[in-house]
Amino acid sequence: MTITFVGHGYVGLVTAAVFADFGNKVYVIGHTKEKVDNLKKGIIPIFEPGLEELVKKNIKAKRLEFTMDYAPAIPESDVVFIAVGTPPIKTGDADLSAVLGVAEQIGRNLSGYTVVATKSTVPIGTNKKVQLILEETKPEGAEVSYASIPEFLREGSAISDTVNPDRVVIGSEDPRAQKILIKLHEPIKAPVLITNFETAELIKYAANSFLALKISYANSIARLSELLGANALKVLEGIGMDRRIGNQFLYPGAGYGGSCFPKDVKALISIAKDHNYSFSLLEEVENVNHQARRDIVIKARGMLGDLRGKKIGVLGLAFKPNTDDMRDAPSIDVITWLKNDGSKITAFDPVAMGNATALMPGINFVTDMYKVAEDADLLIVLTEWNEFKELDLKRIKKLMRNLNIIDGRNIYEPKTLRDLGFNYVGVGR
Ligand SMILES: NC(=O)c1ccc[n+]([C@@H]2O[C@H](COP(=O)([O-])OP(=O)(O)OC[C@H]3O[C@@H](n4cnc5c(N)ncnc54)[C@H](O)[C@@H]3O)[C@@H](O)[C@H]2O)c1
Repeated sequence: MTITFVGHGYVGLVTAAVFADFGNKVYVIGHTKEKVDNLKKGIIPIFEPGLEELVKKNIKAKRLEFTMDYAPAIPESDVVFIAVGTPPIKTGDADLSAVLGVAEQIGRNLSGYTVVATKSTVPIGTNKKVQLILEETKPEGAEVSYASIPEFLREGSAISDTVNPDRVVIGSEDPRAQKILIKLHEPIKAPVLITNFETAELIKYAANSFLALKISYANSIARLSELLGANALKVLEGIGMDRRIGNQFLYPGAGYGGSCFPKDVKALISIAKDHNYSFSLLEEVENVNHQARRDIVIKARGMLGDLRGKKIGVLGLAFKPNTDDMRDAPSIDVITWLKNDGSKITAFDPVAMGNATALMPGINFVTDMYKVAEDADLLIVLTEWNEFKELDLKRIKKLMRNLNIIDGRNIYEPKTLRDLGFNYVGVGR
């Protein structure tokens, strides 16, 4: 099949490369000349393991083509995916200007019969609006079916998530569109759930909000464990052994972040409010998450007292390992609060420092992870990168002025650290 993706971010570029690798002819439409020119050469604008190689391979095989033009990509395509950003506005609602703007451009360029599907996470009801725009803008004689296909990939493992997802959700009640979309997804061995627009849209928000809820639940159990002298990791392991609960996503830490959970939880609260339903459970999920970030600063104060003039080294800035995505990363809040308390911060992240620089003025970024420990009074781990798990702790010990560690992701064994002479604090243990 010939397909087009509009948007080449974490979702658009990954899914485009994977569908090209399945043997389809894939166009990717961008709107920034510099990025599109780079992509044509195989230079990708994001960090995602394995993606650059996959993009280069499929450009070479002439299956993947980057362009700024809607023609000939749209008229040639059997399926067009909208994969542009839907960032939050001040109210917590999703900004739909990119999705609706792109729908208009797609509509004007339609020819023959085309299925248009939205991968972007959009509030319930948006897909009906997109369908209307397509109907109103399409040239005479063009036929269009519309579908909502929410995306569930995770940054850091996006390629394997796309090839092996837990499910494919197709929100379309049009049998012609269903048939084409099922065929397109055939190489993906996952159950397919077919439903209507509204249900597909809500599945995405409900899934992300539930995952955020699990993290906040784990963080609440962690706080309680600290007060009771229990080990939260064992408590969560113990409850996760119950198959009704499951052991995934029950880890305490410095809270969730990234481009999806914070915005999707906010958006679902706002969607509910618009329909006179107070989703107070999710409001509490947000409160607990905020507190998980605050607790890192409270622990720092507990270790060092007055933070003025204290040197703090931070390991990890991205919201999770294997990504350079800094959107709503817990490190942004934690570092801002530590800085407001008068401490001097040195930070390192294997790939996210480029994106972090603009967000964190006044921070000393270093390119060698051991440099964060030099003369430090405290070391804080905020992202569980593998290289931090393998740190030479004896070397760290020699570099630090005071041996304090806050392990915001529980990557170290407390006993090992304490035996080495560190004052160690994790989350919930
Ligand atoms: N990142 C994730 O892990 C993830 C997972 C599932 C779903 N989603 C959802 O998918 C959507 C995209 O997320 P993302 O992380 O890929 O975002 P992103 O910010 O990485 O990428 C957005 C892309 O849209 C492009 N774009 C914006 N306006 C455009 C326009 N007018 N014309 C053409 N291109 C335009 C940008 O250039 C960029 O390439 C969002 O709705 C997000 O909630 C994201």
